[in-house]
Amino acid sequence: MNNQPFHASIITLYPEMFPGPLGSSLAGRALDKGLWQLETIALREFGTGKHRQVDDTPAGGGAGMVLKPDVLAAAIDHVSESEDRRPRLLMSPRGRVLDQAYVRELACGPGALIVCGRFEGVDERVIEARDLQEVSIGDYVLSGGEPAAIVLLDAIIRLIPGVMGNAQSGEHESHESGLLEHPHYTRPQLFEGREIPPVLTSGNHGKVKDWQRLEAERITGARRADLFPGDNKKDD
Ligand code: ADE
Repeated sequence: MNNQPFHASIITLYPEMFPGPLGSSLAGRALDKGLWQLETIALREFGTGKHRQVDDTPAGGGAGMVLKPDVLAAAIDHVSESEDRRPRLLMSPRGRVLDQAYVRELACGPGALIVCGRFEGVDERVIEARDLQEVSIGDYVLSGGEPAAIVLLDAIIRLIPGVMGNAQSGEHESHESGLLEHPHYTRPQLFEGREIPPVLTSGNHGKVKDWQRLEAERITGARRADLFPGDNKKDD
């Protein structure tokens, strides 16, 4: 059994962006309690020359700059020795698109070394040589990997045992069951002419469960039919 807390090491040009939102609310309390650990590594410190250069012009020409492989490799080797079993992730719009199954897989592991990309990209040779797994948080382009790393960690941390107060509260959420969530209601009974669906206040637990299941299916069908098993739209 590995009882070490989930250990995140972030390689970034902007260490001041961390913990950022991860220092508040659920993730922040968990960090204070030692349920996960965060370490930032300032990539600039591994830059070369008087100006601590971390990037250079792309081979073959073109716009933008490319992160230098020697600089990134030095930062990775500084933080992660050969016994480090943590996956090495590179936040990148080219990567495997994050989903709840991947989040769960990462949350079960010892942690992650997360490289935040900037500029036009990262030299391909360091991606190969240090076995970096590219991870995307969606089909859009951010100005850098830092917000993506924060999103990734937020999704992971809430799954770490002991982080969510009510252990049950995650089970019925969107994506955990493969469906989007059913609608929720609370008091008042009447809001601007709209009633809470009577079944929810009927006291019949079985009927409430049936209604929630049907509503989850209806909403998933209307908004995200690609989530139903057997649907192959995702691969279009
Ligand atoms: N860096 C820039 N865009 C990104 C994305 N969509 N996902 C992860 N990292 C990124």
